[in-house]
Amino acid sequence: MSVADRCALFTGASGSRTKEFEESGVRSICMTDGPNGIRGDVADCGTGHTKSLCYPSACLLACSFDRDILNTVGYYLGLDARSRGVDLVLGPAINLKRYPLCGRNFEYYSEDPCLTGELAGAFVAGIQRTTGACVKHFAVNNRENKRMSLNCIVDRCTLQETYLSSFARIVKKYRPDAIMTSYNKINGEYAGENRYSLKKVLRRDWQYDGLVISDWGAVNNIVDSIRCGLDLEMPVNDSNTEILKKSVYSGEFPEEELNAHTADLLRRLDGICGRRKDVRFDQEEAYNKLADIVAECSVLLKNEGKILPLKGKKRIGVFGELAIKPRIQGGGCANVQAYGAEDVFTAVRLRFQHCECEFSLGFAEGKNGKQAEKLVSDALAVAQNSDVCIVAMGLPESLESEGYDRKSLKVPGRQIRFLKALYQVNKNIVVMLYNGGMVCLDFEKYAKAVVECYLGGSATGAAAAKILSGDVPPAGRLAETAVRKAEDFSCCPYVAENPDVEIYGEGLFVGYKFYNSRNMKVIYPFGYGLHYGEVKYSEVEITDKKIRIHLVNTSDYDVKETVQIYVNFLDCSYARPGAELKEFRKVLVPKGGERYVEIALNSDCFEVYDYNTDSMTDYSGKAEISVRKNAREIIASRLLTIPGEKRKHYDRNTLIGELLKTPEGIEIIENKLKQYLIKAILGNFNADYLSMKNGRAIGHERFNSMMENMPLRALVNLSSGAFSNEMLNEVLEHLRESDAHG
Ligand code: BGC
Repeated sequence: MSVADRCALFTGASGSRTKEFEESGVRSICMTDGPNGIRGDVADCGTGHTKSLCYPSACLLACSFDRDILNTVGYYLGLDARSRGVDLVLGPAINLKRYPLCGRNFEYYSEDPCLTGELAGAFVAGIQRTTGACVKHFAVNNRENKRMSLNCIVDRCTLQETYLSSFARIVKKYRPDAIMTSYNKINGEYAGENRYSLKKVLRRDWQYDGLVISDWGAVNNIVDSIRCGLDLEMPVNDSNTEILKKSVYSGEFPEEELNAHTADLLRRLDGICGRRKDVRFDQEEAYNKLADIVAECSVLLKNEGKILPLKGKKRIGVFGELAIKPRIQGGGCANVQAYGAEDVFTAVRLRFQHCECEFSLGFAEGKNGKQAEKLVSDALAVAQNSDVCIVAMGLPESLESEGYDRKSLKVPGRQIRFLKALYQVNKNIVVMLYNGGMVCLDFEKYAKAVVECYLGGSATGAAAAKILSGDVPPAGRLAETAVRKAEDFSCCPYVAENPDVEIYGEGLFVGYKFYNSRNMKVIYPFGYGLHYGEVKYSEVEITDKKIRIHLVNTSDYDVKETVQIYVNFLDCSYARPGAELKEFRKVLVPKGGERYVEIALNSDCFEVYDYNTDSMTDYSGKAEISVRKNAREIIASRLLTIPGEKRKHYDRNTLIGELLKTPEGIEIIENKLKQYLIKAILGNFNADYLSMKNGRAIGHERFNSMMENMPLRALVNLSSGAFSNEMLNEVLEHLRESDAHG
């Protein structure tokens, strides 16, 4: 291939294709959004399809806490894509829900990186049974306002532990075919040319050898991008091909470099083409399976007097515009032209044929004043005549989309006003909630039951009927905290409406980690969800290798219980947010039955960021491991010491406090350092001035505090030459030797 052709390879041929060079055997791959289904414009991939099954959004799927569910949905999506000639699905989108008002949160999984990484990883594995998956957006793309230019300032520990770690899990365990870089800057450099996240972490530390593509139109400097590890700019951009060519001709980007990158790119594209095979996709089978999955993922937040499932009811009133115009997906590139989705009311009427089902709007977008009042009074008349009132509430489509953030946590006021009016005439209220991002749930006091249904795609209506009837009981758990108000978010003080720079000042304290560390009131905690039945934890054994639990179901319903394991690292050298989710397991306990569950804790559960090596490392030291029902409700916990190979790192800046942690260190303090410490701290050499025990001065707390926080080097600097550099080196050698033998 000529230099010109090779340069041309680095940008796409269109919005969804890479370039083809037939004579050189370079095949074009076809890619399309995205995680919610196959986008309408894949005519480019040769099939001419415009409609697609709409798959449930990640905000709902994440509530499954179930890797098998994600794998199944990924499998159907991959099959659907492959059957249309798509080589690469542009999804999953796995950015963390740092900011609950981010317009694109419907596409994202959770506020927790372990849950996100594990579930999205299973989704990738499902897609990649037949088709390539592209995990996006790498990285720190946590809001939509100014997403194309925002400079996110994040310390490295937070970056690695919080924002990169879900990508790390997927890259290491599931080897996605592609990763898409995000639009924003991370610590001053665009994500697509970031020397830290892209070059060092993804390409070097994680050894990622898949295709790295830019988000659409995100490239700033093509040469810098390629040098950092980007393979492909999307969509087509001839001007960057020209720039690349000129850089090669001028020697700024030597031809050998171009050749090496071309070889990598072609190998990676070939790998994706290697998945091509003939498949058969059965849409009806997928739809039926999805309807069960959507019902199962939904979260039962409240169920007073066991009003759900609906039993023995004769007259069912259904209310709210969303019950007849279902909200099934979010806006932006993930939006698909969905095959006619059955609405909630139709599905309920079909399932409850033995009942009288009546619908009344109650409220609707754009209806105000007299019209709105009429809607309410008509609906109240229906409510007065109903045994139970099902109200479909949530966020209208216009309020949440890619490209902009939400302005408020609240659902529209007209919905709340209607709910309050309804409550006056009939207290048997069940709220079905349809929203992509978390909303303020303070209206729950007006309902006996609340089911958080999020955005369920084509099967939304069918799933509602399954939930209400109990055919498929909801078994989801919240993958994000339901907070009382936007001011409670830990990122709140650092978020401006239209910023150029955003400082991630809350660090590791994101979502429940923040609310727990402050013991803040929340409406429902992360991990929360009820069941129609009930499971009891009867025995729990905890070690650092595995957890063993006995679950007993005494109810009349099968229960899919979500066991959650949290770890609190107590011996870390920096402040941490307390308990962090590190493992979870969904377990079916049949009605009247019992199950023993064993959950292995692998090394992923005990990784923390290490400032000395600027990477994630195995933790050793004290840790509290707890089994919880949700982030707030502890079932059992145990304090353990996690063993580790970790060597201590001694140098001239090591604090005396560190020496106090080992017997050798204490001996050195007492026998070798005492007089110099007295000089450095008290200004005299009188070693008899104080006596020591266990490395500490007896009866001299001020001395002890000063000493603990003093680096070894200070003894050289403050002892008027009495403690020399040579003596310091001897001490260090001694410490290192005893550490190596100990
Ligand atoms: C979005 C990506 C998407 C791409 C292609 C971008 O605007 O951020 O998620 O895959 O467009 O449609």
